[in-house]
Amino acid sequence: MLELKNISKIFNKDYDNQTIILNQADFKVNKGDKILISGENGIGKTSLLKILATYDLDFEGTYLINGKDVKEMSEGELAKIRNEMFGFIFQDYFLLEDESTKYNIEIPLLYSKKYKFSEKKERFDKLIDEFELNKKLRQAVKTMSGGERQKVAICRAIINDPEILILDEPTAALNPRFKEKFYEYIFTNIKDETTLILVSHDTRYFDSKIFKEYKFVDGKLYLS
Ligand SMILES: Nc1ncnc2c1ncn2[C@@H]1O[C@H](COP(=O)(O)OP(=O)(O)OP(=O)(O)O)[C@@H](O)[C@H]1O
Ligand SMILES: [Mg+2]
Repeated sequence: MLELKNISKIFNKDYDNQTIILNQADFKVNKGDKILISGENGIGKTSLLKILATYDLDFEGTYLINGKDVKEMSEGELAKIRNEMFGFIFQDYFLLEDESTKYNIEIPLLYSKKYKFSEKKERFDKLIDEFELNKKLRQAVKTMSGGERQKVAICRAIINDPEILILDEPTAALNPRFKEKFYEYIFTNIKDETTLILVSHDTRYFDSKIFKEYKFVDGKLYLS
C-alpha cells in the first residue's frame, strides 16, 4: 500500500553540514501493518514520517501509494490523500495556532463524507470527553499547554478513523495517566485493517506479537 523504493534524503547536500537521512532505503507498508520505528535522536525518524505523509516530496527515489507515484500526483490528489486517508500527529503538532481546540479537531470532518452529521458529533463528543478537553473547546491552541496541544493533535488525528495513522511520538508531552489512556484508546479502537506507523520511546506499551519493529540506522530501516 505504501512503498518507498531506493529513497535518499539529504539535507544541505554538498555543504559541510550535509546530513544524510535516508540512503537508498527501501520500506514497505502493507494494509493493516502495525509498525513501530525506533532510532537515535536526529537519525531521521520525523523526516521519514514527513515523506510517508506526503508533506515532503523533496527526496530522491520513488514513493508509491497504492501503486501511484506521489511525485506525479496533483495538489488535489495529495490533499485528498492527506485529508481522507491519513491521520497524523507530528512531533511539532502543526496545529492551526490561532484557531480553537474545537476547530482544530473538527478539520478532518469538515471535508469528510464518511459520517453523517449526527455521527460526526458523536465522535467529537466522545473524543473530547476521553481526553478531557471539554473546557478548552473555545480556547486558541497557541495559549494552551504542551500536553493539551498534544491531546488536540491526537483527537484531530483519530476523529475521522483514517486508514493510515502516522504518529510521531504521540504521547511525549502527556503525563502517565494520559499515556495509558491514549494507548488503551488506540488499542481498543483501532481496527485490524487500520495501518499504524508509529515512532515512540514508550515501547513497553507495545505487544511485539502485533507490532513489526524497525530500527533506523545509517540511512536505512532494519526489521528487528
Ligand atoms: N529542514 C532541515 N534542514 C536541515 N537539517 C534538517 C532539517 N530537518 C531536519 N534536519 C536534520 O535532520 C536530522 C534528522 O532529523 P529528524 O527530525 O528527522 O530526527 P528524529 O530521528 O526524528 O529525531 P528525534 O528523535 O530527536 O525526534 C537532524 O540532524 C536534523 O537536524
Ligand atoms: Mg523526531
